Amino acid sequence: MPAKGAHVDVIVGGGVVGLSVAWRMAREGRPVTVVDPAPGKGASYAAAGMLAPVSEVTYTEGPLLRLGVASLRRWPAFAAELAADAGFNDEDDGTGLVTGPMRALDLRADGTLDVAFGADDLAALGELAAYMEKLGLPVERLTGRECRRLEPMLAPSVRGGLLAPGDAWVDPRRVTAALLAALERLGVPVVRARATGLLYEGGRVAGVRLAPPPSEHAHEHERRHEHGPAEPPGEVRGERVVVAAGAWSSELAEVPVRPIKGQIMRLRSPRPLLTRCVRGLVHGSSVYLVPRGDGELVVGATQEEMGFDTKVTAGGLYELLRDARELVPGVTELEVADVVAGLRPGTPDNLPLIGPSGTPGLAYATGHHRGGVLLAPLTTAILLGEESELAALCTPGRFREIS
Ligand code: GLY
Repeated sequence: MPAKGAHVDVIVGGGVVGLSVAWRMAREGRPVTVVDPAPGKGASYAAAGMLAPVSEVTYTEGPLLRLGVASLRRWPAFAAELAADAGFNDEDDGTGLVTGPMRALDLRADGTLDVAFGADDLAALGELAAYMEKLGLPVERLTGRECRRLEPMLAPSVRGGLLAPGDAWVDPRRVTAALLAALERLGVPVVRARATGLLYEGGRVAGVRLAPPPSEHAHEHERRHEHGPAEPPGEVRGERVVVAAGAWSSELAEVPVRPIKGQIMRLRSPRPLLTRCVRGLVHGSSVYLVPRGDGELVVGATQEEMGFDTKVTAGGLYELLRDARELVPGVTELEVADVVAGLRPGTPDNLPLIGPSGTPGLAYATGHHRGGVLLAPLTTAILLGEESELAALCTPGRFREIS
């Protein structure tokens, strides 16, 4: 039995998933500590925040669709509670740019428009539409003209599209800011250090070892001690460790999680160019454009198996802009606000690992691949034991059984 910090859950990872887990636990009155060298600055910082289980569906991923649809259903209440706990007010700031109900997190539910550029893309979209219809998903086929009626900035060459009216999106940077604010208000310690390994005691995981913090963050350790018993420097102890470290999870635990690089850019526009998310196929290559209420337009994202490389490359940005411009020519007029590469945590079956690991004291909330933001509410529900049916799809044991 761990001697110190006995009832604390230690959440390793301060992205949308880890912070959400910490917040929901703290809300239930459970003592929790978060460990992350730079909370909110990993994959969540890069993510576009699409809550789009329908328009992102692929032929082999029925289980992922079920998870996504269930989690999307949870998002409005999750966001409302989060904004309230964070003390973020949801009032219109007078710009009139956002009409949706959740200005604080820029949560919008105006649907996704999937569009096709070439004849080959239209054929592929037609097949996808048939598959979606077979699954009973609410989608609407549109001609090129109907697409432009919805989104006048689309190029005349867009040949047709598919509207998924129930899809939504949110600003992940606002979400992590809100989560950190909510944790602060709940008195949850956030230790700004890298976890370098697990601590074991009596056959169970009993905490994490930390890399020495940079001197400017030493005060975080002092603050941590205000909320709990003093611990040896360089470690955080707890009854349970939840690894929510995204692509870095495999450095701490034996999980089949690998980094999948995504380069993404943010453009700045005085007025929003689009009213909803637009995803497009341009000669077989996919691109998406996500409008924010303040005029920012997120254009993403590459998918590259490059290990832990996070370089932003000219080729990556070129591909994104080339395809985005074919669909929305006006993007070339916009100012570049930000370019970044994030690492998605991929798994062999593209489903997350959520729940007990098989090692006493160790649980996982990782491997969310392209869907960390979408799946955050469902992930917390699974870990808190509020959702059992879908939990079976995410059980970490499925990989142990295969090997
Ligand atoms: N979900 C979008 C992406 O992973 O790029």
